Amino acid sequence: MPASVVLGAQWGDEGKGKAIDQLAPNSQWAVRFQGGNNAGHTIVAGGTTLKMHLLPSGITSRDCKLVLGCGMVVDPWVLDRELMEWAELTGEQPEGERLFISERAAVILPFHRLYDSADKIVGTTGRGIGPAYRDRTERVGIRFVDIGLLLGRDSEIGDMARRMNDQLATVGVGDRIDPEQLGSELIWIHERFSNAIRATGPMLDTALNRGEQVLLEGAQGAMLDIDQGTYPFVTSSITCRANATHGAGIHPGHIEQCYGITKAYTTRVGNGPFPTELSLEEGPGKQMSVVGHEFGTTTGRPRRTGWLDAVALNESQRLNGYTGLVVTKLDVLGGLDELKICTSYELDGQEVSHLPSSSEELSRCKPVYETHPGFPAMGEDEWIQIAEESRNGGGIDSLPSEIRSYLSRIEEISGVPVVSVGVGPDRLASIASSGGPFDIELSEATF
Ligand code: IMP
Repeated sequence: MPASVVLGAQWGDEGKGKAIDQLAPNSQWAVRFQGGNNAGHTIVAGGTTLKMHLLPSGITSRDCKLVLGCGMVVDPWVLDRELMEWAELTGEQPEGERLFISERAAVILPFHRLYDSADKIVGTTGRGIGPAYRDRTERVGIRFVDIGLLLGRDSEIGDMARRMNDQLATVGVGDRIDPEQLGSELIWIHERFSNAIRATGPMLDTALNRGEQVLLEGAQGAMLDIDQGTYPFVTSSITCRANATHGAGIHPGHIEQCYGITKAYTTRVGNGPFPTELSLEEGPGKQMSVVGHEFGTTTGRPRRTGWLDAVALNESQRLNGYTGLVVTKLDVLGGLDELKICTSYELDGQEVSHLPSSSEELSRCKPVYETHPGFPAMGEDEWIQIAEESRNGGGIDSLPSEIRSYLSRIEEISGVPVVSVGVGPDRLASIASSGGPFDIELSEATF
């Protein structure tokens, strides 16, 4: 059986968690392959809201095994907290039973968080993600497999603390790392997680060869990719399909389906250019923010909002080759007189149909819009009813005609079929195209 990938097609926060939650019951494995707890996945089912930062969203399916892959940076304290919250909610302790951490995943230590707190440019989540990747690239970082070997080697740990303190001093952070405390932290990480640390690449390879289905869960989005995004206002990992298998320790030939998740509009948190940005104080931008509850799951920061940017969507299609698009939060646009899609930019009097590689140039790009008729606002119950009709055979045709033509236009511009549409936060508030990969039976909460 093959692997499927779920990726953010914009600047993150597209609603990947909900799509993964729907696909997980038909997968034997759910794998995170990059990033860390800068991600925030929200799953709403039967009145329960789960917010996760590290645990794969596939955790909601009890038969799904979970992997934190080798391409990740993992904060052990955050993982410990999420596991405690999960155990409180469900009574289950999955670590070592069905949750496995790659030996090769990098460990986020307090030093990385402190170093990240000095960021004044990017507007990072402050979770130590970039500094942990930087240490990995410099080949001075610690991976889970290294911790057991380091225990008791006080002089190495002392050298490590000295290097960290020099770097904190350089960026003007006052806190210092105490070598003894660092030593005891490593002991704690070892004792807490040693039953879950495995060579997860070979485990997944064996599972795929046995015919099992693997779901690869992206975090952030294509426009936040370190190589292909709006550098330097990006995260520090490769968020695209090319890294989905590499960050899981398997080969790219396994991927059969790749789903791009896009909001029906656009949001972005943190700094950086955003051509279709609207005011949060009034009009459609305010509606997107208020009705869409657009606040970061990880930091609580208000997200910036704007119209759908098809230039960015097409870039992300070029990078990821989606086999299907999931358009989320369509309900949020209900009641607006008209809807806009940005189909190109104007830069210094020239029409541009690709994202400029320079963020400085992108920030000077003016959006060129086409306008579509709006559709009436509907209540949660009305949307759920349409979703039910769609599951009873209506598919996407159950949606009002203005919405269908908006979706058809997205398909036409991107060249990718829309396979599912989100019309509310609940697991059941989804409309799938008939016979498509999301045309699956959805149950009420099963946490
Ligand atoms: P970092 O990933 O914490 O280094 O932050 C780098 C940039 O990526 C900042 O603009 C963050 O706001 C943004 N970012 C990181 N993770 C996410 C996410 O999951 N959703 C949206 N933006 C994110």
